[in-house]
Amino acid sequence: MKFYHVDFEPVGRRGKCRHDESLLDCARRLGVGIISLCGGLGKFHCCKVQILKGSLSEPTSNELESFSPQELKDGYRLACQTYVTSDCKVRIPLESLTTPQRIQVEGLEVSVNRKPSISPYHIQVSSSSLSDLRADEERIIETLNHQYKLHCRSIDIDVLRNISPLLRSWNWEAQVSLRGNEVIAISPWPTHQLGLAIDLGTTKIAGYLLDLSSGQTLAAEGIMNPQISYGEDIVSRITYAIDSSAKAVKLQEVVVEALNQLVNNLCSRVHAKLEEIVEAVIVGNTAMHHLLLRLPVHQLAFSPFVPAVRRALDVKARDIGLCIAPGAYVHLLPNIAGFVGADHVAMLLATEGIWKDGGLVIAIDIGTNTEVSLIDNGEISSVSCASGPAFEGAHIKDGMRAANGAIERLQLINDQVKYETIGGVPPVGLCGSGILDAIAQLYLAGVINRDGRIGNHARVRIHEGQPEFVLVSEEERSGSAAITITQKDVREIQLAQGAIRSGINVLLQERSYSEEEIKKVIIAGAFGSYINVISAVSIGMLPLLPLDRFQQVGNAAGVGAKLGLLSEDKRVKAQAIARRTSYIELATAPHFQEIFAQAIYLG
Ligand code: FES
Repeated sequence: MKFYHVDFEPVGRRGKCRHDESLLDCARRLGVGIISLCGGLGKFHCCKVQILKGSLSEPTSNELESFSPQELKDGYRLACQTYVTSDCKVRIPLESLTTPQRIQVEGLEVSVNRKPSISPYHIQVSSSSLSDLRADEERIIETLNHQYKLHCRSIDIDVLRNISPLLRSWNWEAQVSLRGNEVIAISPWPTHQLGLAIDLGTTKIAGYLLDLSSGQTLAAEGIMNPQISYGEDIVSRITYAIDSSAKAVKLQEVVVEALNQLVNNLCSRVHAKLEEIVEAVIVGNTAMHHLLLRLPVHQLAFSPFVPAVRRALDVKARDIGLCIAPGAYVHLLPNIAGFVGADHVAMLLATEGIWKDGGLVIAIDIGTNTEVSLIDNGEISSVSCASGPAFEGAHIKDGMRAANGAIERLQLINDQVKYETIGGVPPVGLCGSGILDAIAQLYLAGVINRDGRIGNHARVRIHEGQPEFVLVSEEERSGSAAITITQKDVREIQLAQGAIRSGINVLLQERSYSEEEIKKVIIAGAFGSYINVISAVSIGMLPLLPLDRFQQVGNAAGVGAKLGLLSEDKRVKAQAIARRTSYIELATAPHFQEIFAQAIYLG
């Protein structure tokens, strides 16, 4: 019997597929939920997937009916009708997924004195007549400036395109949204003024819809970054983009499509209109920021890894294809360096209340790229660690992203494995926090030594010449493949945790501090929010400190984006943070190789 390797994205689940097993059956067996309303008959177009790599059986008549020639050329197929004939990479569109990924959108609550960049004004202008031949634009600007003592100079061109019929239909009364000296939206009086805050991560995107007049978050939602189908981490995404300008455009288009979908979802939840969103703030790492703006990324791939631009930017939303109010702007917080971006600035902005009181603080945002800052009485030094996607479940034999069926908590008690899964359903794999717990428990039980070598234990067996620890056996899974931790999995986690720990150690070394002097460790990011800190400390990923010095703050980058949306003062503060942060390139840090070699030991 022939087997091929199949990689399901964006779920991040990998496994073997038999040559006589449909992709839908394979997905089911691996615990990947693809919608199959017609039960695999190929009738309802319900199990649509896109094949990104690999070869397949010829399209069936149902597929030829379901897809246009172009769609077939683009790799679209019905999972229930398709059999793989080589190793494959499969993208499951969001509409075909049964359960969404768990994406962290909550963060700490931070109060802010609201001072948004957009202000609403109510105007009642005099109607045009033979004795008043002013253009509609002049009529609005003069009324605004006279009534409110302003210095408005212009109206956005897209707003102007519709202004005359609208003004007349509203009987010359309107609400004008002013940004600086420019009118960026005009609407009936009164209209809600909404704002959009986005944390654009390498793997996940979190979006927030806010009422600008109250500061209240009306809706929040997370989605997967669809660019993941073109590369799991920043480096592979950059490599894809620099291959050709068409590929760079593709990466931008897919992420903007996802952002527009996210905005639509947020609006429909609160019955708001897209045009009511008059400002957006987006934070992301430097690569995500550059790809979104179609800035060059080639230089990010080569030493000295400099960004094309670091300062904060304001661009028209329409220029990047974001569908909100036609004249609205997107504000992008500043970057720090090629691999420490605006998302880290946003995180530092959001946690300022924790670190500004002095003392030595480590602020860490764990992701496929992990940014670490050391804050020493307000002075900030940052590094970027290539922790990779292992904590997202990638490169781990039974790893998966945080979706239903993922083991998220795990304990080894008297040789018995106790676990909790997301959604409380039978286990299908391990997400990052589960993997971390598993390695920590095996290390603490002496099953894995400091080198990471798996030793003897009743649950250890040899599979394909390598030891593996059985977490959930075939019998416990009613005949499905066992969920195990392999020797290679342990190595992957050692590299990931070693990358993070060596980043912390380089920062401490640079300022001549020891780890005991750290007063606080702020842990941000989706993975960081769900991990068991004791597990992270046990394996040596985080320093050995009293537990009360650790603070898990959720999606602080998202909170920072919201602060930037609600307050111009916070934007100024973000620029000050970015300016005063010195970036250290890990590879050039003294003794980095030795520090890293030490850090990959467990414990
Ligand atoms: S399961 Fe319905 S079309 Fe495949």
